[in-house]
Amino acid sequence: MIWKGFCILMSRKKRIRQILWIIVAVVMLVLTGCSDKKEPEDKVLRVGVVTYTSDDPFINALADELKENLKSMETKDMKIMVSIKNGDDDQQDQDEIVEEMIDAGCDVLCVNLVDRTAPSQIIRLAKQNEIPVLFFNREPVWEDLTQWEDLYYVGCDAEQSGIMQGETAAEYICSHPEVDRNQDGKIQYVLLEGEAGHQDAISRTNYSVKTLIEQGIHLEKLSYQFADWNRGQAENRMNRLISQYEDSIELIISNNDEMALGAVAAYQKAGYEQDKWPVIFGIDGLDDALEAVKSGKMQGTVYNDKEDQAMQLAKLAVEVFKGEDTNRKQLKAGRYYVSQYQQVDSSNVDEFFKR
Ligand code: GAL
Ligand code: CA
Repeated sequence: MIWKGFCILMSRKKRIRQILWIIVAVVMLVLTGCSDKKEPEDKVLRVGVVTYTSDDPFINALADELKENLKSMETKDMKIMVSIKNGDDDQQDQDEIVEEMIDAGCDVLCVNLVDRTAPSQIIRLAKQNEIPVLFFNREPVWEDLTQWEDLYYVGCDAEQSGIMQGETAAEYICSHPEVDRNQDGKIQYVLLEGEAGHQDAISRTNYSVKTLIEQGIHLEKLSYQFADWNRGQAENRMNRLISQYEDSIELIISNNDEMALGAVAAYQKAGYEQDKWPVIFGIDGLDDALEAVKSGKMQGTVYNDKEDQAMQLAKLAVEVFKGEDTNRKQLKAGRYYVSQYQQVDSSNVDEFFKR
């Protein structure tokens, strides 16, 4: 009897303990968030930006703009970390930096190749680790860009900048007959070229000259000089040409503004009065060049829309990370974003400051 009573008491206690355990388990489940509604996971997007050099004002301005855009796209659910490095003008160094960035856990790469014909190592690493690559400014060839589905390119149509530069220069020369200083019916010109093999240098040179000729300008070539997009190098090249040709150069066509500004510096330092200078045309529309157009030291440039390119890169980086395709759907051949150039001369230069 006593034993039976004890057994009943114990089994009641056991049931109470079981019920208590169930209550504890339910409370724990609710507290640990095991409900239908999931809290958003904390996401971090790490973007690695690698430029070809630290020494190119256009590229630096573009990279800074890209970083700002990415930071402005942070949300409370997604932090964005951006690291900017450069390849120190050496493709192998750039390959190593890309490898380090991948090892450090980067999610998306934005790469401005040192050598646009040698992206294989970067593509191989990216594919192996499934890290999408947005190439920019230095365009890989189609065969490379189609090696893997997560490779994209953001840049411009170089031909368009050459045509626009040629048109701006032709228009100026037609309405200013004094450009032909020796009045021989021909315009003696010098061409400052960016860098052998660069898509922008090749097309800008060809189409700028071709357009001037098509517009009826008789040209006489004095010299073509490579100056690596660089102001100092262009100034050196121009110093030599100024001692050789003195004031008989009538037109300078430059593949970019930095080199055009090198030519401006060379004429200033050579002590020539401005009416003995040639007319000078560049491309990019960086602030120093816009100032030079405004003050009449340069006659024109072509705006290389870094804000547009940086915005597109930022949007694509976020999109490929999230696996969305709003912008991707609009890319040319599913891979190319082509930003539009704009002509700049003294009549519209004010619109381009502080873009
Ligand atoms: C061009 C630009 C140049 C230079 C070059 C570097 O698009 O006009 O100034 O930055 O890219 O690849
Ligand atoms: Ca002449």
